[in-house]
Amino acid sequence: MSLGQKNRAKISGVAHWVPEKILSNKELEKMVDTTDEWITSRTGIKERHILEAGKASSDMAAEACKILFEKTGTDPDEIDVIVFGTVTPDMMFPASACLLQTKAGMSKAWGFDVSAACCGFAYSLVIGAQFIESGSAKKVLVVGSDKMSSIVDYTDRNTCILFGDAAGVVLLEKSEDEKLGILDYYNTVDGNGAQYLNMPGGGSLNPPTHETVDKKMHTIYQDGKNVYQYAVKGMSEASALIVERNGLSGKDVGLFVPHQANKRIIDSAAQRMGLKDDQVIINIEKYGNTTAATIPMALSEAVDAGRIKKGDYVVIAAFGGGFTCSSILVKWAY
Ligand code: COA
Repeated sequence: MSLGQKNRAKISGVAHWVPEKILSNKELEKMVDTTDEWITSRTGIKERHILEAGKASSDMAAEACKILFEKTGTDPDEIDVIVFGTVTPDMMFPASACLLQTKAGMSKAWGFDVSAACCGFAYSLVIGAQFIESGSAKKVLVVGSDKMSSIVDYTDRNTCILFGDAAGVVLLEKSEDEKLGILDYYNTVDGNGAQYLNMPGGGSLNPPTHETVDKKMHTIYQDGKNVYQYAVKGMSEASALIVERNGLSGKDVGLFVPHQANKRIIDSAAQRMGLKDDQVIINIEKYGNTTAATIPMALSEAVDAGRIKKGDYVVIAAFGGGFTCSSILVKWAY
């Protein structure tokens, strides 16, 4: 479904923040039965960043906000709405959006969290755009922030090698030129996928008990093979669909900004669209899968490196727990 046309929402700024501490593949070799060679060849990941104990997803988002407000000359009080994508909120409630509102000084903003796993940022971006489109907000802050280390079992080699901690944020405003901004999106859910990727403990189905802790139900469960197959198909189809239904082809894509879960999944999606290497941003080697943060982080690094320019078509795509899937077409506005 295409976004409404009343106002066009544009991304007017983007920033990211990663914790200093690095966990390398070599260090993981000492923790579980794995090798740098296995991790690199199967996933593309070399290292990931880990947030210190006592800090949470809203703290990383607050750091990213500082950079964003500085870069864009935004007064935090100008923000009307915070849409916070995360699967590792600071607590069950209140929402991390509320905690961030205070930490980043956005005294006039209201907000809420979006739980969509690796599509957390993409869904939040689409939701945030609706407030601009309807004219009910002037400035929306969209966040993707996850402290994945808080829900990873560091004795499980199937999952602990994949994830890292980080935050990315974008600012949304009304586009003066209606040809520039967020042009189209395609979001889907397939709840049958819930069985393959989840964290079973801690919710209303399995509230925390000694037993849920003993059974490690508060950490990520993933059937990697099944998720991989669905992710390759989902990301490839969604990215190709958003390009084709807007009358474009691979050569028109300025930059493909995919969720960074596995380099091989990204390569398949890029191949399906017929993209060359320089049309794709891949930074998974430095950060691993940071869930809701991967896309705003990649956008932020791409803008900083001059890889996205005004008027470029940017294709965002994500796939994750749910299963959730998303692709978004943006004509870059600055
Ligand atoms: N180090 C060494 N060996 C490992 C390992 C590790 N860290 N993790 C798994 N293995 C082993 C397995 O036990 C298996 O051994 P076996 O053949 O003796 O049973 C073998 O390696 C192959 O495992 P497999 O699961 O087939 O590997 P894979 O090529 O599918 O790669 C993933 C595993 C997790 C990297 C891959 O499935 C994947 O990326 N899945 C999707 C992840 C994803 O996108 N998740 C988030 C969605 S947003």
